[in-house]
Amino acid sequence: MNTQLKEGINWVGYIDWNVRDFHSYVTSYGATYNAYLVQDEKTALIDTVKPPYGKQLLDNIAKYTDIGKLDYIVINHAEMDHAGSLSVIVEKCPQATIVCTAKCKTILEAYNDNTADWNFKIVKSGDEISLGKKTLSFLETPMVHWPESMFTYIPEDKLLFSMDGFGQHYASINRFDDEVNLDKIMYEAEKYFANIVMLYGKNIFKVLEAAAKLEIEMIAPAHGVIWRSNLDKIINAYKEWVVCKPKPKVLVIYDTMWESTKKMGEAIVEGASIKGVEVKLIYIRASSLTDIATEVLGAAAIALGSSTLNMGMMPMMGATLTYLKGLRPANKAGFAFGSGGWGKGGAEEIDKVMSEMKIERLIEPLKCKWKPSKEVLDECREAGLLLAQRTLDVTSK
Ligand code: FEO
Repeated sequence: MNTQLKEGINWVGYIDWNVRDFHSYVTSYGATYNAYLVQDEKTALIDTVKPPYGKQLLDNIAKYTDIGKLDYIVINHAEMDHAGSLSVIVEKCPQATIVCTAKCKTILEAYNDNTADWNFKIVKSGDEISLGKKTLSFLETPMVHWPESMFTYIPEDKLLFSMDGFGQHYASINRFDDEVNLDKIMYEAEKYFANIVMLYGKNIFKVLEAAAKLEIEMIAPAHGVIWRSNLDKIINAYKEWVVCKPKPKVLVIYDTMWESTKKMGEAIVEGASIKGVEVKLIYIRASSLTDIATEVLGAAAIALGSSTLNMGMMPMMGATLTYLKGLRPANKAGFAFGSGGWGKGGAEEIDKVMSEMKIERLIEPLKCKWKPSKEVLDECREAGLLLAQRTLDVTSK
């Protein structure tokens, strides 16, 4: 395995082939926790790995140097998949200086016992540490993805360590973007963005502006492959994702009890299926929240449907909307739909949440009693066409 990023800089992280649930994120292709070793006159470790893989991190560092000789341990992000093995490293190398932001120090102290003897150096944007020929330069990146996070940049190598930014959950023996299937990696990067940082789009936009002032040849995230050949592609994709740039894409997302809401969804899809518009029908219980959020990121129009259950929407639609609401997808329009019997509730409840999510509702909730009549299905087709036209209107501007 080629682990060398630049002369004196190596990947020393952990490949988690078998993880399939990363705090509810469905990691179909596993994950990596990337840590990097920078060797110059002084030696720095950039980030650690998720517990319980500290032993493997130590073994990887030992391939290049004596662990006891680390001078600096840079913690770009305090979340456990990045900083969770810090105590294992400090135990072997108590004299090393831990470099992080002030907020990061507070979080590291909260998560770890016996930090009283740890040597911290607090840094902020613009601060630098010389390792000899190489310099570590820091850029605070609040809310990418926690308030304490930062990027570390080595100007001499034009190399950016971007922790969660530009990451993908993808286990591979290959470390670089030009060694793997690019389409697959771009989709995993989009999935990562949608599920981890979509709600912080404005913060990431500011970070992209600040990072644009740096000369960058390589971006080394904390997850997935390192970008060295397709920087333009991933940076341009981020520019679109941070603003949820709408595409001519319609999603019809539904849950159903006795297939009436499903039939309504199918009719909406039929109506929306016009030239130039991508249309997808998603049955919640045959998908995952992770995949649904990824699809939602670029969709300009969304119909959300549920049968009525106990005077409200079905539970998996409730879970889906709770998840999506938290991620705050922007620039969406759509409507609610669903079937019911003697009472109402499913479509109305969805409509209420869509309003809270600031999704522009193009029509009142579409409803049917018991089973959709021909008239209801015609109405669904018309509403589907409305969604499709909407996506063409907003994407042609
Ligand atoms: Fe990779 Fe915010 O954790």
